[in-house]
Amino acid sequence: MRTQTEIGSLLDWVEEMRVRVREIVREWDDQEGNLIMMLHAVQNEFGYISRGVAGVLAKETGINMARIYEVITFYHYFRLTPPGSHSVQVCMGTACYLKGAQKLYDELAQQLQLMEAAGGRQGDVQLETVRCIGCCGMAPAVVVDSETHGRLCPGDILQFLKRKQEARHGS
Ligand code: FES
Repeated sequence: MRTQTEIGSLLDWVEEMRVRVREIVREWDDQEGNLIMMLHAVQNEFGYISRGVAGVLAKETGINMARIYEVITFYHYFRLTPPGSHSVQVCMGTACYLKGAQKLYDELAQQLQLMEAAGGRQGDVQLETVRCIGCCGMAPAVVVDSETHGRLCPGDILQFLKRKQEARHGS
């Protein structure tokens, strides 16, 4: 059960979130393609687009939730869940797909699941697919924590994440 203080902080957070979403709506309201721009701004602000935030956006813009979810789910860029502390985006554009991106994604997903089963924290790695990121010459291209790499195997990616984790914890 939540304490009064926790409930108070949660309510403060919800109010701050509402105010921020209202500001974003005001900023983009009269511009073309504004829903996408608002969604980008919302995701930049909160890290992902939660149902609560989408609800406030729907209320403030008068756009119904179905339309908002249609857009969020159409573009792979948008997140419906909180991002992990690391993100791995595997490009599934045509060039990358032809160079084995699907196999890379499947193997990586499997290895992350095995790590989780062994007590690791797979939830710390947000694995997702994206469309062409403009680095087709590096196919299959992968973006690991905002750094673009080409032609990595799943083992390279896991090693890279491990090194970053170690650097973060100073070991
Ligand atoms: S298709 Fe993957 S970077 Fe272009």
